[in-house]
Amino acid sequence: MKRLEHIGIAVADLDEAERIFGDILGSASYKREEVMGESVLTSFFRAGESKVELLVPTSEDSAIAKHLAKRGPGLHHIAFHVDDLDSELDRLVEKGYRVVVGPKPGADGKRVAFLHPGDSAKVLVELCAENRVD
Ligand code: CO
Repeated sequence: MKRLEHIGIAVADLDEAERIFGDILGSASYKREEVMGESVLTSFFRAGESKVELLVPTSEDSAIAKHLAKRGPGLHHIAFHVDDLDSELDRLVEKGYRVVVGPKPGADGKRVAFLHPGDSAKVLVELCAENRVD
């Protein structure tokens, strides 16, 4: 495990959340990116060596739309950067952790997987690595 890569925050109003995190972090979002197949629009901010990822649903059947309906806006996941996603997942699955999403391409040029929050202190944990084209 290398470092905290980003914190994912589910929002209902992306413009408003971009204004807020632009104020807090002192610099504007550096990109918006739609994640294909996830029906989610993301917006990224730099926060030192880490990032903040805002997530807004683009359709009602997206996972983020369901999260907003159930829990409202707020903290959604934390993401750790790893060098080798497959070997990290193997290591954790061996210990009994369940992978609920991925590994698959994610936003920001990453390959990502999510662990079951029931196994990880009720926090949705994303592991991400640079998406190499092998
Ligand atoms: Co993320």
